Amino acid sequence: MPPALPPPTLVLAAALAAATLPARAGDTDITRQLAHWSAEAGRPGDVARGEAFFGRRNDAGASCAGCHGMPPTGPGRHAATGKRLDPLAPAVHPTAFTERARTDKWFRRNCRDVLDRECSPAEKADVLAYLAGLRPTGAGSATGGPR
Ligand code: HEC
Repeated sequence: MPPALPPPTLVLAAALAAATLPARAGDTDITRQLAHWSAEAGRPGDVARGEAFFGRRNDAGASCAGCHGMPPTGPGRHAATGKRLDPLAPAVHPTAFTERARTDKWFRRNCRDVLDRECSPAEKADVLAYLAGLRPTGAGSATGGPR
């Protein structure tokens, strides 16, 4: 389980640090994961395609954005359980995408959930390019709502 959430001021400081420093924890970061999936796909991740993919609803109305929010620069909310989710954008949540196994696990699970299949390398590269380019939209959303 993740450790207890730090106070908002620490989160903001960490987000600011993450804008200039490489990720501090884990075995990877979003830049390296993006490079990996771009190489697997044979083309660079595409921000616009990633954004469209992230917001696209399936026949039942489910989408990545349905749980993670759009843009995912603030806390998400699980569409089924209502549970609060950490923001997906690394600029706002510095430990996002710092563990390869964790990212792989959630990609597998969430893609099956929404698409009924795993995401392709190109789809993963597109989503990562979109998420890597997101910046905090303001102090309010950078620190999230009530914790
Ligand atoms: C039903 C709710 C739900 C949907 C829909 C969903 N996710 Fe998630 N996702 C989660 C949860 C829960 C986590 C774990 C977050 C946590 O522990 O705070 C997560 C985590 C992730 C992670 C891991 C991030 C990391 O730090 O490594 C990725 C990547 C991800 N989701 C991508 C997607 C994509 C792409 C889609 C659309 C195909 C999607 N998700 C749709 C619930 C969802």
